[in-house]
Amino acid sequence: MSIVVTGATGQLGRHVVEQLLEKVPADQITAVVRNAEKAADLADRGVKIALADYSAPASFDGLFSAGDKVLLISGSEIGNDRVGQHKVVINAAKAAGVALLAYTSALGSLTAALADEHRGTEEALLASGLPYVLLRNGWYHENYTENLAPVLQYNAVTQAAGEGRVSSASRADYAAAAVAVLTGEGHENKTYELGGDEAWSFAEYAAELSKQTGKEIAYNPVSVEAFTGILTGAGLPEPLAAILAGVDASVEKGELVVSTGDLSRLAGRPTTPIADAIAVALKG
Ligand SMILES: NC(=O)c1ccc[n+]([C@@H]2O[C@H](COP(=O)([O-])OP(=O)(O)OC[C@H]3O[C@@H](n4cnc5c(N)ncnc54)[C@H](OP(=O)(O)O)[C@@H]3O)[C@@H](O)[C@H]2O)c1
Repeated sequence: MSIVVTGATGQLGRHVVEQLLEKVPADQITAVVRNAEKAADLADRGVKIALADYSAPASFDGLFSAGDKVLLISGSEIGNDRVGQHKVVINAAKAAGVALLAYTSALGSLTAALADEHRGTEEALLASGLPYVLLRNGWYHENYTENLAPVLQYNAVTQAAGEGRVSSASRADYAAAAVAVLTGEGHENKTYELGGDEAWSFAEYAAELSKQTGKEIAYNPVSVEAFTGILTGAGLPEPLAAILAGVDASVEKGELVVSTGDLSRLAGRPTTPIADAIAVALKG
């Protein structure tokens, strides 16, 4: 029996494995990765490595064992039949008889197109009959704080979210929730709506950036259409730009505000304030 983490060489997956290593022996953790070289450091620390790709069903044959607890981290190839990819993992987990399959989904309130593949995966997981956990992750702080270059260049935070607020949290916070579910008891068939303790607006975000940089950084709210154009102008393919701009429309409607307290409750501590994530990003 193992705790198995897919997407283990991704940014969230790395936090999950790191935090698991603080709680369980390395040989009880399996990292599912596409590229063994990327996971060499984990192998050196005694984590078991399994090579598999969501697009290659045979690569999951025999990967899971009965009783495993699995974290399926959603794939990053947006629009590339992620439901089909995730079903590959669900089917293999079902065939093996795993004890739990936790899936990193999107907030239940999110109506943006980005949520469609998550809803499809949730349906497949529930239909499988496996004991499941839906970790409906809100937005990451890092979606914003790791993309500060244009903000600092133009002294402007340009988004299409109006006065909308976001309950974002750090990847490390969401990882802590996943680790609590994988190492704890009593989470079977639960759905958690996960977000940061404090929701913030882009005007507040710009004010915090101004405070920390000593520059005057303003919030520049634009329409969804204009924002899509800005993203395509920066080199994003049109469909992806439209999906991301659609998330801003959801922010304006309040769909990324979370008030359940599930994240800090599972993590056993308050979530990371956005100001801390900004400080880390500015130091880097
Ligand atoms: N809540 C949010 O704000 C937010 C933001 C962005 C993304 N997400 C979702 O949350 C997931 C985790 O976030 P993240 O920041 O860790 O993203 P990330 O750094 O892009 O990691 C994605 C992981 O998925 C793996 N993966 C992608 N396609 C795969 C495939 N066909 N087969 C096997 N593995 C595959 C990648 O493998 P490699 O390491 O080999 O590349 C990587 O480990 C994302 O994939 C996305 O679904 C959420």
